[in-house]
Amino acid sequence: MITALVSRKGGVGKTTSSVNLAAALSLRGRRTLLVDLDSQCSATLSLGVDRSAFAPSAADMLLREADAPDILRRTGLDNLELITGSVDLLSADIELGRSGWHRRRLKAALEPVAPLYDHIILDCPPSLSVLSQAALLAADTFLVPVVPQYLAVEGVQNLIDSIERLGDRFGHSPSLLGIILTMVDYRTRETREQVARVRRLCGDQVFAVEVRINVRLAEAPAAGKTIFEHDPASTGARSYELLAEEMLLRSGCSDRGSEPAREETEATSSTEP
Ligand SMILES: Nc1ncnc2c1ncn2[C@@H]1O[C@H](COP(=O)(O)OP(=O)(O)O)[C@@H](O)[C@H]1O
Ligand SMILES: [Mg+2]
Repeated sequence: MITALVSRKGGVGKTTSSVNLAAALSLRGRRTLLVDLDSQCSATLSLGVDRSAFAPSAADMLLREADAPDILRRTGLDNLELITGSVDLLSADIELGRSGWHRRRLKAALEPVAPLYDHIILDCPPSLSVLSQAALLAADTFLVPVVPQYLAVEGVQNLIDSIERLGDRFGHSPSLLGIILTMVDYRTRETREQVARVRRLCGDQVFAVEVRINVRLAEAPAAGKTIFEHDPASTGARSYELLAEEMLLRSGCSDRGSEPAREETEATSSTEP
């Protein structure tokens, strides 16, 4: 299953969620590939790849038709592989925009490796740019991370509507797997109001599990590690573990077949770290 993490905004937890959901899935024994489609390469850096070692990257696959199997990297986790990002992805965004066919290039490029994985996670740039559109065209499902703040919540429905329109235009509509509340900070009343608002407006589309603000999650990228390697006992690690479980349930491929325990869900929403 190919899943894109998309948002028009930066700083909403797309990369943190891509990296740590991919890690959580891999730790459950699911073969997972993370593809970094952002020219800022945050996901690649978060997995400890040095800037001098970014090439060959997703840009080579998209612009120079490098074969995906030749650019796969191993990571510190057994079942997790990576296709790196690169600054060249900025030009890929322009090049791919020249024709509708090019938007399908990502889907075509991933086809030979798709059977090797249970999950392919696409970390997208902070816009609905051509690269994000290419990701949505390749994806079966998409996830929308949102920070519980007024303007962010305001933009969610609009984003989902835009993605639906894109689907109509290109003849492929990935389904919304869910909206993920990230960086939830219950020390403010605004947070409580906006969490309630997004749950009222979007109902079941919102994941039950919430990712609380957690300093360990913010530190992990600088260490070049996933949260499970950086601090497996943190609430951040627990949140992404439960989020991966709910993701599997929502996509109908649960390996346990149980509902996420409400009690546990609430436990992750407690204090940090
Ligand atoms: N739950 C969290 N708690 C604390 N910091 C977080 C959390 N999620 C993300 N961050 C930090 O917030 C910043 C933006 O997150 P990121 O995942 O890079 O967003 P995006 O990919 O949407 O731009 C990063 O510095 C990241 O480490
Ligand atoms: Mg990012």
